[in-house]
Amino acid sequence: MYNVREFIYFLLVVIVAVGAMGPASSVGSAGELRTIPLSKRRLQVAELRSAANRYYRHAGGDGHRHRETSTGQVSLHTLARAVVEEPLQGDLLPLGEYYAVLGVDGQVIDVQIDTGSSNLAFAVSRCADCPPSDGIIHLSHWNETSVPCSDQSICLPATCSGLCGGCSYETQACCSFLDPSSCGMTLMYGDGSFVLGALHRGKVSLPAVNITVQRAFFTAILYDSSTFERPKVGGIWGLAYEAAACSPSCPTPLFDSMVKQGLVPRNVFSICLSDKGGALILGGEADSRYRLGPYSWIPIISQSPPVYYEVSIKDFEVGVGGSSLSAYIDSAIFDSGTTLLAMGDTAFTAVISSMKRAVCAGNSSFCHSRFWSEAPACTALSSSALASLPNMTITFKNDVKMVLDPDTYLIKVEVGGELLYCLGVEGIPGLGSTIVLGDVVLRRYTTVFNRENSSIGFAPSVPGCGH
Ligand SMILES: *[C@@H]1O[C@H](CO)[C@@H](O)[C@H](O)[C@H]1NC(C)=O
Ligand SMILES: *[C@@H]1O[C@H](CO)[C@@H](O)[C@H](O)[C@H]1NC(C)=O
Ligand SMILES: *[C@@H]1O[C@H](CO)[C@@H](O)[C@H](O)[C@H]1NC(C)=O
Ligand SMILES: *[C@@H]1O[C@H](CO)[C@@H](O)[C@H](O)[C@H]1NC(C)=O
Ligand SMILES: *[C@@H]1O[C@H](CO)[C@@H](O)[C@H](O)[C@H]1NC(C)=O
Repeated sequence: MYNVREFIYFLLVVIVAVGAMGPASSVGSAGELRTIPLSKRRLQVAELRSAANRYYRHAGGDGHRHRETSTGQVSLHTLARAVVEEPLQGDLLPLGEYYAVLGVDGQVIDVQIDTGSSNLAFAVSRCADCPPSDGIIHLSHWNETSVPCSDQSICLPATCSGLCGGCSYETQACCSFLDPSSCGMTLMYGDGSFVLGALHRGKVSLPAVNITVQRAFFTAILYDSSTFERPKVGGIWGLAYEAAACSPSCPTPLFDSMVKQGLVPRNVFSICLSDKGGALILGGEADSRYRLGPYSWIPIISQSPPVYYEVSIKDFEVGVGGSSLSAYIDSAIFDSGTTLLAMGDTAFTAVISSMKRAVCAGNSSFCHSRFWSEAPACTALSSSALASLPNMTITFKNDVKMVLDPDTYLIKVEVGGELLYCLGVEGIPGLGSTIVLGDVVLRRYTTVFNRENSSIGFAPSVPGCGH
C-alpha cells in the first residue's frame, strides 16, 4: 500500500502498463436527435499558459508517441509556465472551457466536454481536496452505486496496477486507495493533471434533453491534482472511444451507454463551439443552423479497438506555396478538451520559424517580438503585421484541406482599451508528430464525430452556433 503522497509521486515519475480491452459498441435505433447547449467558462489571460490539454494520457506505451510522455515533465512544464506569466487581471479571452450540465442523484454538475478522453468523472462530497466552488455531488447511496473492487465483471484482477491505488493482497483486486472497498480509478491527462477516484454505476441524466442513462459508469473523484481544478467545472465528460477509458478498469463511456440503451438514434455526435457557447448534438450531424456549407469528410485512423478521433495528415503548410512541415506533423486529434492548437516541441519550432520567414520578409520589427518567443504571449499588432501573417493549411487524406487563418490561430483580447493578440498555438514536449486540434480550431469548424463509419466531418461553423 502507498500513502497518498507516495502514490502521487509514483504517478508523476513511473510509467506503468495499462491493460488493453475488447472492442465496443452496438448501434441503437430509437430516439431522436438531442441538442445540449454548452456553456463556456472564460479564461483569464493569466490562465492561458496553463490552458487545459485534456487528451487522455495512456500510461503504457502503445506505439503512439504522445502517449509515452512522462506526466512529471508535462506537469512541471505547465506549472513553470503558469508561474512566469504576467497577470493581466480581469481581462477575459474569447476562449475557455466548454461544459454541459449533468444530473446525478437529484443534483446537477457542470462537466467539461472532452473528445480527447473517455471517462465521466466528477467531484463528490467525500473529496477532501476538491474546491467546493466548482460543484460537488453528494452521493446519497454510495454503497449502492459503488462498484466493489471484488466485481470481476469490470474490476478485473488482470487490470490491477499502480493505477488502482491498491491491489488487494489476496485477490489482486483493483481497489481505490481512498475507498478500499470500491474499484479504483486514476485518470491522467496530457497537461499532467490527474484525479484519483472510485468507480460507480448509477443513473446519470442530461436535464437539457430529458435523457436518463441507466447504470452509467462514472468515477467519483476523491482527490484531484491542483491542475485539475483549473477548468473550474466540477467534472469532465469524456466522449472518445471505450479503449481510452481503461484507467485501469474499462468502464463503458456515457455516450456508448446512450447508444446501447437506444437513447440516441445514431452512433454519431457533433459539436459546435463559439465565442459565446456552443452545442453538443447527440445522435447525428449538426444541421445548417450550425454550419456554413457542406461537411468535408476524413477517415479516422483505423486502430483496433479505436481510441481517439485521430486522423492522418498528408501535409501541413505555412503560407501560400510555403514550407511543408510534413516531416514534423503527420496526424491530428480532434479534442474539445484542449484549449489551444497543441503540437510537439519540434513541430512547434518549425511552425514558428516558417511563420517568421513569412512575416520577416517585410523586415518588420514584429518578427523580433516577444509574441513568438513563448506562446502565448500577447502583444499589440500593427495592421501590416497582421496582414503579413500567413495561413496554415492542413491537407488530410483524399486531399481534404482545412485552412487555419490568422483569425483562427490568434486569440484577440482587449486590455485597457487596447487590442492585443496572442498566438493560440503551443508546443508540448512529448506530443511528437501528432497535433491536437483544440478549441481554437473547433470554434471555427463544426465537427461531426461519426463513429458508425469512423470518420470526422467538418464545416465552417455559424458564428454563435445558433445562440
Ligand atoms: C457501506 O459499505 C462499507 C464497506 O463495505 C461499510 O463499512 C458501511 O457500513 C456501508 N454503509 C452503509 C450505510 O451501508
Ligand atoms: C421526459 O422523459 C420521460 C420518460 O422518457 C417522459 O415520461 C416525460 O414526459 C419527459 N418529460 C418531458 C418534459 O419531456
Ligand atoms: C460517413 O458518413 C457520411 C454521412 O453521414 C458520409 O458523408 C461520409 O462520406 C462517410 N465517410 C466515409 C469514410 O465513408
Ligand atoms: C531590417 O530591419 C533592421 C532593424 O530594423 C535593419 O537594421 C535592417 O537594415 C533592415 N534590413 C533591410 C534589408 O531592410
Ligand atoms: C487565407 O485563407 C483565407 C480563407 O480560406 C483566404 O480568404 C485568404 O486569402 C488566405 N490568405 C492568404 C494570405 O493566403
